[in-house]
Amino acid sequence: MSLIKQNIKDLLPSSTLLINEKCKDMAKDGKKIYQFGFGQSPFPVPKKIIKALQINAYQKDYLPSKGLLKLRKSISNFLTKKGYLNLNHENIIIGPGSKELMFLLQIVFDGEIILPVPSWVSYAPQAIIAKNKFHWIETNKGSNWHVTPEDIDKIVSKIQSRNKLIILNSPNNPSGTNIHLLKELGEVFTKHNITVLSDEIYSELYFKNNYKSISHFHENTIVSSSLSKWAGAGGWRVGYFAVPNNLIEIFEKLAVLGTETFSAVSSPTQFAAITAYDEDHSEYLNKSKKILKVISNYIYEQLKKINVDIKKPEGGFYLMPDFTKLLNKKFKNSKIFCKILLDETGVAVLPGTDFGFSPHKLIFRLSYVDFNGTAFLKVNDQDITEKNLIIYAPKIVDGIKEIVNFTKKYS
Ligand SMILES: Cc1ncc(COP(=O)(O)O)c(C=O)c1O
Repeated sequence: MSLIKQNIKDLLPSSTLLINEKCKDMAKDGKKIYQFGFGQSPFPVPKKIIKALQINAYQKDYLPSKGLLKLRKSISNFLTKKGYLNLNHENIIIGPGSKELMFLLQIVFDGEIILPVPSWVSYAPQAIIAKNKFHWIETNKGSNWHVTPEDIDKIVSKIQSRNKLIILNSPNNPSGTNIHLLKELGEVFTKHNITVLSDEIYSELYFKNNYKSISHFHENTIVSSSLSKWAGAGGWRVGYFAVPNNLIEIFEKLAVLGTETFSAVSSPTQFAAITAYDEDHSEYLNKSKKILKVISNYIYEQLKKINVDIKKPEGGFYLMPDFTKLLNKKFKNSKIFCKILLDETGVAVLPGTDFGFSPHKLIFRLSYVDFNGTAFLKVNDQDITEKNLIIYAPKIVDGIKEIVNFTKKYS
């Protein structure tokens, strides 16, 4: 008899981590790899924040499970300055990355989960582990790959539980697009009393400067973010939830589960994170965003030219090309497409099935982070242009050429 629980049996390691391992193995064997599968920031952690970590390396005590008070205050001030309402440190909980807090939320929440297609790779597996019933909502390019109020009305009529939680992510991983119907969605969530987890981990990498959160339009919204993407500190494992007063019972139980699981996030990184939220990093962020925008525009234009269906990214570091119309006669499903693309060209992308799409849709996530972010950040602003990508991001240019040639060959 298996020692593994029924609901866990079919779970595989997160595909983003798997693709990374496979690419490393292929590279070891001497194959040239274009790593467009893994979603890690290419940029170094800002110097000021590294310095703060060095200074605090001696911090050794366990910190309060909800997080270091001064850091919770820094984050609530940071969010308040950005226009988030009614938050103080008592609304902020720190976790070892936002992913762990999301998992604990799924454990705590008594109700059913709504997930848009596409959704980030871990929301559905976490629901499976927590034994939560979940419902997919298919979206399309026409609605910018996000749910519409009509979708919500429809799905709610199928859900039996009184309690419903939807997980939204804008800018989105994998599509790179933002939610545009914030007001309308806010109204429909309020009408149906739906709790929202707004995963805003890419909000600081929104290419424009006026990011708007669904929490401004719907009170029962938990905002989630971390240092992982905008500060390039994924390995530091510092994330947070901002939980509004209405949902304080959720906050309290998350805190209890924190005490029984991770205890507290590492002390030096929490002290360093105060600098991340207190100080101004606009120069670093503006440059990071400019680089990402120029690269994403370049890829968008190249793929558009050969009639790939694609939406222009609005932030973060992903885009989501759809080859269904061009290549559906040649490839049975997106996994096979990915495997052949990787074997023939060395280009790694993730199949849409990892994000909830059906296998016959030839949709993929392409992460455009395979370049030296430290070197690119040193380039003068006026030299961050498409023309110079061949110098500063040559693997992006060459990898996209490979994709274009592959598409032409098979279409
Ligand atoms: C959309 C999204 N949400 C959440 C996470 C989790 O990030 P972390 O646990 O590092 O805060 C990631 C990381 O890849 C992500 O892409």
